[in-house]
Amino acid sequence: MRFGTFLFLALPLAAAAQTKPVAARVDSVLALMTLEELVGQTNQYNGFWNATGPMPAGNEWVAARVAALKRGGVGSVLNVAGVDEVRALQKVAVEETRMGIPLIFGLDVIHGYQTLTPIPLAEAASWDLEAIKNSARAAAREATADGINWTFAPMVDISRDPRWGRVMEGAGEDPFLGSRIAEARVRGFQGANLSDPTTLAACLKHFAGYGFAVAGRDYHTTDYSAHTLYNWILPPFEAGVKAGAATVMNAFSAANGIPATGDSALVWGELRGRMGFDGVLVSDWGSIGEMTAHGYAADLRDAADRALAAGCDIDMESDAYLRYGVELARRNPTDSVRIREAARRILTLKFELGVMDDPYRYCGATKPDVRPDAYEMAVKSSVLLKNSGVLPLAAGVHVGLTGPLAAEKNGVLGNWRVSAKDQSAQSLAEAVAGQWTYVASSPHSVGQEAFHAELTLNQTDTRANDVALKALRKHDVLVLAVGEHGNESGEGRSRTSLRISAVQQDLIRKAYATGKQVVLVVYAGRPLVLEPWIRDGAAAILWAWQPGTMGGSALADVLTGRREAYGRLPMTFPRSEGQIPLSYDGYSTGRPGPKPEVFWSHYTDESNTPAYPFGFGLSYTSFEYRDLVVTPSAQGWTASVTVRNTGTRAGSDVVQLYVGRQGNGQLYPVKALKGFKRLTLEPGSEARVSIELPLEALTQRDGQGRNVLFAHGTLTVTVGPHSQDGLTWTTQMP
Ligand code: BGC
Repeated sequence: MRFGTFLFLALPLAAAAQTKPVAARVDSVLALMTLEELVGQTNQYNGFWNATGPMPAGNEWVAARVAALKRGGVGSVLNVAGVDEVRALQKVAVEETRMGIPLIFGLDVIHGYQTLTPIPLAEAASWDLEAIKNSARAAAREATADGINWTFAPMVDISRDPRWGRVMEGAGEDPFLGSRIAEARVRGFQGANLSDPTTLAACLKHFAGYGFAVAGRDYHTTDYSAHTLYNWILPPFEAGVKAGAATVMNAFSAANGIPATGDSALVWGELRGRMGFDGVLVSDWGSIGEMTAHGYAADLRDAADRALAAGCDIDMESDAYLRYGVELARRNPTDSVRIREAARRILTLKFELGVMDDPYRYCGATKPDVRPDAYEMAVKSSVLLKNSGVLPLAAGVHVGLTGPLAAEKNGVLGNWRVSAKDQSAQSLAEAVAGQWTYVASSPHSVGQEAFHAELTLNQTDTRANDVALKALRKHDVLVLAVGEHGNESGEGRSRTSLRISAVQQDLIRKAYATGKQVVLVVYAGRPLVLEPWIRDGAAAILWAWQPGTMGGSALADVLTGRREAYGRLPMTFPRSEGQIPLSYDGYSTGRPGPKPEVFWSHYTDESNTPAYPFGFGLSYTSFEYRDLVVTPSAQGWTASVTVRNTGTRAGSDVVQLYVGRQGNGQLYPVKALKGFKRLTLEPGSEARVSIELPLEALTQRDGQGRNVLFAHGTLTVTVGPHSQDGLTWTTQMP
């Protein structure tokens, strides 16, 4: 390998230099760089040409990008995958640029790389932090073997709006659960040491508030209170920063009249200030340029200036820094310092990843088989919402399987499947082949299925539904695999109606009319609205989300009881779209009800309650909670409860601790999750579970962002199996 001349001099080979602290090594490289090269480090391009093939002739756009790369004008790339491609581009950066500074390679490894784990919202439903961490770890092992060293994950946006298609990518509505999951994912991707060639730099996104898009429409502006910002939106970022996340990404959205990419107060005050984040802040795709479309920046030069001022280190695909960075720095000494500081942070990351010592560090490994990890995560992600006793399916029962997602090998992979092969999921029909009878029903979608395109639904053709049900008329139980295709949720895929499609409703209605027991297996990237007749008519409902590559056997094993029903909802399921945004942790209002007259906070045509509450999920056994005792401890309180398995099977439950506060001088959610523990019990056995409640967990930030300790008023602690059930203890603070 031949490093570019100057880097070669700056890194006086290997051992001696490697013992110098990273900061000193970064300084020695910075000292040799021109302003143009400093700006180049801040520029990120999408994989722009097939680097292992010939340069496309006559394509000026590509030629300009290649020229930029060769003169040191590109610091990182995204969407280049495969060892050969990565090597080829790295060779250009290392051998054909003056400084020879290696590139870093980013990709959306969101729920797996080529082997897909369930969508992140599904993983969150496991409430199993070790499993989630392991899933991120598996994704990192697979992706790094292909040359990738940076993932644009985890998305830690809290959202209460299932119309927003990107809820599939997050951990749901709760800041406590979301924070614990952010930590688990960061630790899983990054491992103990970033320079380990099986780890990825993580990226907390989207900073900040993107999940509060008005009316759930993606890319929309947002409108939320300071209270919401400080107590819901920011905590998972803070947890991820504390867990060591190397990078953070700006949001597309705007709040308080300022696009997030230009929001200096938010970045310098909160992210870099209060949270102490000193890693790399990358824009979202084109989000610097989009500040002009927002109406905020006058033009691309102005946008570049504002993004620099707001601490954005890397310009992903706006070409704003590359075009105007040098000019801005020459005109304004402050911009010059900003660019140098951005380059410093980027080079620091490159040293930490180890690519400054070995640019090809991530290109050597054999790809591991992570399918067992994907299977395990899929088993733990599904949520049993209803069970009349038909599940687990008994041996000897004749099961008929139909529904448009039963044999689906694509849509069940989920939305972020940049690197997975088409049709690579194991379907439910494949997993049960030879045991159940599968007959195809009417298709859910027609025509093209693509990441960038709208999915066209089959609106009318129900013919195959009748054929399928006729063919299965002799079976005892019907399993219907229905719901959403992976391309109905995710980025750019907001919905106003969250109902099951008409053609699938036709199938469900006709299946119910047979009088047989019908099990719904619902694939979805979000909570959907199941009408009462759908909920009432089903013998059982298993929420499968989009379970990824190994979903087929994972779901089959849960349905037949080889594995237990494990998941608990990380998001409230509304009864109607009109209730949205809906979460379990709202404020009480001045008019809680119910009241006999209309003057209380409610709807005239729908209840305030959800269809399925946050934290809910059934087991194949039952649990009883008793004897809640809360005692003072060194940190605050300890809550202990006895949980007994009252059923006939071994099983686990997630014991959840919620708190409410009253009278401390500002509103507090009616309840807020502050702890949880999973516990496995043999039938008839019981155990005492203790959960710590540190006093600091009750601290809340006020509208000015100040921490307000809980010192006065009433504290209520509820411990139970989900957000709407449990034993309660109350105390009065002096
Ligand atoms: C998304 C980001 C993603 C980026 C790069 C954007 O459209 O909002 O979450 O990481 O593209 O693919």
